[in-house]
Amino acid sequence: MDKILIHGGRPLSGSIKISGSKNSALPILAATLLTREPCILHRVPDLSDTHYMLQILTHLGAQVERASGTVTVTSDTIESIAPYDVVRKMRASVCVLGPLLGRCKEATVSMPGGCVIGDRPIDLHLKGFEALGAAVRVENGNVKVFAPKLVGAVISLTGKFGPTVLGTDNVMMAAVLADGITVIEGAATEPEVVDLADFLNKMGAKIEGAGTRRLIIEGVKELHGAEHDIIPDRIEAGTFLVAGAICGQGVTVKRVVRDHVSSVTDALIACGYQIQWGENSITVSPNGAAKPLEIATEPYPGFPTDMQAQMCALLSTTDGISVITENIFPQRYMHVAELKRMGAHVQLEGATAVIQGVERLFGAPVMASDLRASAALVLAGLKAEGRTEVSRVYHIDRGYEHLDEKLSELGAHIERLKE
Ligand code: EPZ
Repeated sequence: MDKILIHGGRPLSGSIKISGSKNSALPILAATLLTREPCILHRVPDLSDTHYMLQILTHLGAQVERASGTVTVTSDTIESIAPYDVVRKMRASVCVLGPLLGRCKEATVSMPGGCVIGDRPIDLHLKGFEALGAAVRVENGNVKVFAPKLVGAVISLTGKFGPTVLGTDNVMMAAVLADGITVIEGAATEPEVVDLADFLNKMGAKIEGAGTRRLIIEGVKELHGAEHDIIPDRIEAGTFLVAGAICGQGVTVKRVVRDHVSSVTDALIACGYQIQWGENSITVSPNGAAKPLEIATEPYPGFPTDMQAQMCALLSTTDGISVITENIFPQRYMHVAELKRMGAHVQLEGATAVIQGVERLFGAPVMASDLRASAALVLAGLKAEGRTEVSRVYHIDRGYEHLDEKLSELGAHIERLKE
């Protein structure tokens, strides 16, 4: 297993281009199952998660061609069973359920496991499928859904922790081929859901309200192929903006949509950093002493849970007491124990982290546990004195395209040790 070695304390400067969004590419790749015609997708990021999704599509019978960032998928004849050995690698595989149900009126997908950020239920997905007329069975670790036909319905998709992103995607992808009108109340409004709706409408779907809590979907008979550019990855952009805050002397992220990261730039401004906006770029610079922050994760457009760990790393070396509350995945604090090994002072109280900023962190061997926690450890290593060795970096490779190379371009002393 590869490791990433960081010699901290080097100031970052310069600019990097943001890759296509992982969390947009995954459901959009799944959506290609809804038509037998070719779909051409640009800016699909080169990640292990997108590779897993392409493996699943191939396993289901799709033809997949990849030329650098462009992927062409043709799902002429497909089967509807995605087995455990491909699904277990990535819980987001669950988003093939909706398109398979829409296209084949049946699907069998291995139940996604939990993961270190907490239980990952899909009860809201299944509630949506049942509302459309599907029967749902969970047996032998598989979810089976089938329907003689799908009929539009009014569905509320908000759960205890708010809307569901992939649940909204899944139900939307089943509803586009249902008979009649479907209304999804309490829909997720993340930019990645909007990107999926845009792609589905290019395929001939009739979806209105994307980006609002209320989606209206008029079912159509069939969908045709389409071409689409995946939106930039707002979490990658946020991660690099935090890198620029934690040890930067002016870091610019290019190919970013300003509104998609406004909750992150608002937080950095509240901490006292200078933010400047360009045509489709954002620059973060130090601007005197940074200030502590109280922040809570919320569904979009609130502060994203996928940026919570990175913010923890930044606030660990921000003088004063900061408080982070994690409202989406209350257990999402695997990074805290490792940050404490680097000298951070973080006290967990349920879903809240109370952070006493310290003057310096110290490099140490640390272990990655999940995608965003791993990114937080790399950010802390950039700031820490001495050498930090992050092991199990396969977690990072799931969601960041060449993170070490991009940070090296900004001046970081970082290298990947192949094991
Ligand atoms: C998506 O996961 C993202 N993944 C996650 O990013 C992100 O953290 C999450 O949305 C929240 O923004 C992809 O898009 C591939 P949810 P998803 O359903 O859709 C509960 C990353 O780091 N819930 O919006 O699986 C759930 O437990 C990943 O890139 C139910 O209770 O998340 C959570 O508490 C990590 N029942 C909350 O809702 C359900 O049926 C939000 O989950 C579904 C979800």
